[in-house]
Amino acid sequence: TGAIAPLKSHVPFPLGVCAMTAQMGDPQWAAMIATHFDRITPEWEMKMEYILQPDGSLRFDAPDRIVQQARNYGQSVLGHTLIWYAQDGDYFQKLKSQRQAFEAAYRAYIRDVMAHYIGYVDGWDVVNEPILDDGSDLRDCLWREVLGDDYIDIAYQAAHEADPACPLILNDYNLEYYPAKRKRFLALVEGMLKRGVPLQVLGTQTHIAADLPRGAIRETLRDLAATGLKIHLSELDISLKEAAKNALDFRNYRDAQRALYEEAAEAYAALPTAQQFGLTVWGLRDKDSWYNRKDKGLIADEPLLFDDAGQLKPVGQAFVKAL
Ligand code: XIL
Repeated sequence: TGAIAPLKSHVPFPLGVCAMTAQMGDPQWAAMIATHFDRITPEWEMKMEYILQPDGSLRFDAPDRIVQQARNYGQSVLGHTLIWYAQDGDYFQKLKSQRQAFEAAYRAYIRDVMAHYIGYVDGWDVVNEPILDDGSDLRDCLWREVLGDDYIDIAYQAAHEADPACPLILNDYNLEYYPAKRKRFLALVEGMLKRGVPLQVLGTQTHIAADLPRGAIRETLRDLAATGLKIHLSELDISLKEAAKNALDFRNYRDAQRALYEEAAEAYAALPTAQQFGLTVWGLRDKDSWYNRKDKGLIADEPLLFDDAGQLKPVGQAFVKAL
């Protein structure tokens, strides 16, 4: 790969990337991760689906390896994620009808996972994706079914008790697509702050398609920053295939993709320094992207900054220039 300046050298805030243990044996991946990034978000192995066993015990082997590698590279780690509607598990399902035991186990899970990583992470996504896309309400999930809307406040209180110094993050997606969702997300934030719930960082994932109208990312960052909290642009990738109507025309979206990467970089870099918690991209090379794992199809998507050979793509160069 050609000699390019480390991406992280272009920014005053932490530049992050997601990682899984399955990728750690790839020397090119490891070298690039070490060179270009300050911070690692475990893509999957710090989630409940991995950590929590059906008998309630916790396994930390894989996330510990990610943390160890990050430390070897002088990087920090972001905890992702404690409570997510998409993952609950047999252990909690079985406790469903016992409100008190359920709440005790819920608090204990947050406490024990956080306790394991005190001093090793510089923030936690405590609740992930709580708002419905249409912005009408909180999402239904096991946590809400048993604990009510309070499940969110309880999670942040438990997290704060476990590690009072840890920045606590509320993370969601499609905030740039749906103004009503963004409004509901901000109403939740406002309520939490009024109630004195510990919350320091807002995460906006920014999994977008290349046909997202211009200006939506900028507006979203501006609206979130108006809360005065720190902002994490937490899972950036820009899909060509999700924008294209068929597999053959997807390359026509490259210019649009570049414009959006530039907008994200510029708008994030323009935030007040004190509110820049960091910018994280959701994968290294195109072949590492979750889009190419879940449904590769005949033609691979190209949502990331580096190509499969490890070269910084034109879109990556434009992104870096705009930072
Ligand atoms: C995704 C990972 O990329 C996949 O590998 C995994 O199978 C499922 O989760 N929002 C999030 C991330 O907060 O955790 C998701 O990551 C992508 C959407």
